[in-house]
Amino acid sequence: MNAQDLYRARYGDPAYAAPETWSPIIEHLLGHRSVRSYLPDAVSDDQLSAIIAAAQSAASSSNLQAWSVVAVRDPATRAALADCAGGQVHVKEAPLQLVWLADLARLDHLAQANQRPAAGLDYLEMFLVGVIDAALAAQNAAAAAESLGLATVYIGGMRNQPEKVAELLKLPPKVVAVFGMCVGTPDPAKPAEIKPRPPQSVVLHHESYTPLAAQDAGIAAYNDAMAAFYSRQNMDVRGTWAVHSAKRVAGPESLSGRDRLVEALHKRGFPLK
Ligand SMILES: Cc1cc2nc3c(=O)[nH]c(=O)nc-3n(C[C@H](O)[C@H](O)[C@H](O)COP(=O)(O)O)c2cc1C
Repeated sequence: MNAQDLYRARYGDPAYAAPETWSPIIEHLLGHRSVRSYLPDAVSDDQLSAIIAAAQSAASSSNLQAWSVVAVRDPATRAALADCAGGQVHVKEAPLQLVWLADLARLDHLAQANQRPAAGLDYLEMFLVGVIDAALAAQNAAAAAESLGLATVYIGGMRNQPEKVAELLKLPPKVVAVFGMCVGTPDPAKPAEIKPRPPQSVVLHHESYTPLAAQDAGIAAYNDAMAAFYSRQNMDVRGTWAVHSAKRVAGPESLSGRDRLVEALHKRGFPLK
């Protein structure tokens, strides 16, 4: 796909003109799509090492390195993780599951080893630092994997049952899974399409926040782009993207068990003060 085609696909709008500013990395990032069908071919240790070096190249809050990742190849563990994540088949089938962790245990450990207090770890701020570090590392890994011809999909379902995931992966206290990530060779028989994003007028605000009412035209355009996407993909989605999204936040029952996340985090050793 050339730059113009990629841009149109990214916004699902044939009238959207690509900027003149362009680079191979921008081109690569615009080609992202989540993949949920994988061949069984293994991801090699060498590929994993390159992907993790890219992940470690992400910025890290105060260089605290408050994240870790567990690479799971064992089919039985993958199947158990798939169960934890609401039975998502791709978690079982992808040859590699990377479980990205907010990791405050290492900081706690090194504070203890240096006879230093570590009460700051008990605050919500430090939990957020771990989550942000993990997310930045993971996104670098996703881009790196895609650059190798592999595909990925994030698995937020890893937060459905945090205690079970922690038990399976033998996570110590002060470590919790933020999300998983399937990695593998995409099945060419089931290609994934680039999913459109809202027009920039919805997410990009100049100097100060655009009033929500002024975002409505962009949201209406996005509802249309997503309706076309759902129909091309033969997806049985009822209602517009806006309605679909509203359903996802309707109440605690729509959070797939994650409505009790605070309780689970407390149990995992995050007081979140
Ligand atoms: C943090 C996070 C968690 C996600 N969790 C899941 C998941 O549990 N299962 C899944 O199939 N996709 C999951 N996704 C993928 C999103 O549905 C996907 O990124 C979104 O629909 C946009 O599509 P695209 O990535 O193909 O552009 C997740 C994405 C993110 C960023």
